Amino acid sequence: EKGTYPHFMLKEIDEQPFVIRKIIQEYQNENDEIKLDPEIRQAMKDCDRIYIIAAGTSYHAGLLGKQFIEKLANIPVEVHVASEFSYNMPLLSEKPLFVYISQSGETADSRSVLVQTKELGHPALTVTNVPGSTLSREADYTMHLHAGPEIAVASTKAYTAQMAVLAILAVDTARAKGIELDFDPMQELAIVATAMEALTDQKEKLEDLASEYLSTTRNCFFIGRGIDYYVGLEGSLKLKEISYIQAEGFAGGELKHGTIALIEDGTPVIALATQENVNYSIRGNVQEVEARGANSMIISMEGLNKDGDAFVIPQVHDLMTPLVSVIPLQLVSYYAALHRDCDVDKPRNLAKSVTVE
Ligand code: F6R
Repeated sequence: EKGTYPHFMLKEIDEQPFVIRKIIQEYQNENDEIKLDPEIRQAMKDCDRIYIIAAGTSYHAGLLGKQFIEKLANIPVEVHVASEFSYNMPLLSEKPLFVYISQSGETADSRSVLVQTKELGHPALTVTNVPGSTLSREADYTMHLHAGPEIAVASTKAYTAQMAVLAILAVDTARAKGIELDFDPMQELAIVATAMEALTDQKEKLEDLASEYLSTTRNCFFIGRGIDYYVGLEGSLKLKEISYIQAEGFAGGELKHGTIALIEDGTPVIALATQENVNYSIRGNVQEVEARGANSMIISMEGLNKDGDAFVIPQVHDLMTPLVSVIPLQLVSYYAALHRDCDVDKPRNLAKSVTVE
């Protein structure tokens, strides 16, 4: 039920801090240790490479899952779009573990890959919001997102829940492998939940930004480097699917290899700047697009922010920034769609779960 909310999407955006706190609870035992099926722990320890298979927003969460698993647990990870992988399987490592990320657990393209990898005898873990779903039943193991039903077609709380669960999985694996970490996922997630709340309280400001940048534009670009690039991909998907603005996410460094030709007077460019190691270079990219007339909006993080940034998110661990920086992007997309009279919860041509290949 929407309750007092005008749309499910807005309600689900607001639920994100509660979902993160629920995940902290569900994945912790009474000794403050990570609570996880020991068979999943073993499968993570036994594999030599992880193949993440997903579609759409879940694919974007997978790109960030790779960062967690490689940086914390030191296992190589490949992330694949299910529909591509299913007819063009790459060479596999000797002991692969397949991780299927799917809010609905019903995405036909992911299921088609699962059928194939099961035939090959490879273990499979499904990370889903619907534990009784097809992908959950047919995989060997399931991790539950605990996000509650997601009704709006545009995925919001499932995306942040997917990243939270993957961060916990990565840390659990690191600990099981005896890797010393200076990173307590539950503590970092608690900081994230608080930061999320500070952002969902700033709807007016984000609505103003949507009016200023997106009310009449035909297109919009998102740029970022490293994990900001992956969040930009998600921001552009959100914007295009509900507002029908042609939106694309690009890696900052790729701009000069073609995309910059698209920048005209007034083209909106949303830049993410939450990573210290690329803060200087992404701001250089913003200057390049501005010099060609772009109307740029910088979303940065406290501590890395500069005068003139349009929006500043609270400080969180640098691996955790996507869970927080996506919130202004979700809200800006929501208001852009609203101002353009689009059907926010049920955008044209889209279905909540895509059960055909
Ligand atoms: C975007 C969106 C879709 C889904 C995709 C995968 O907002 O909702 O891109 O993320 O269809 O769906 P699941 O996660 O159910 O496999």
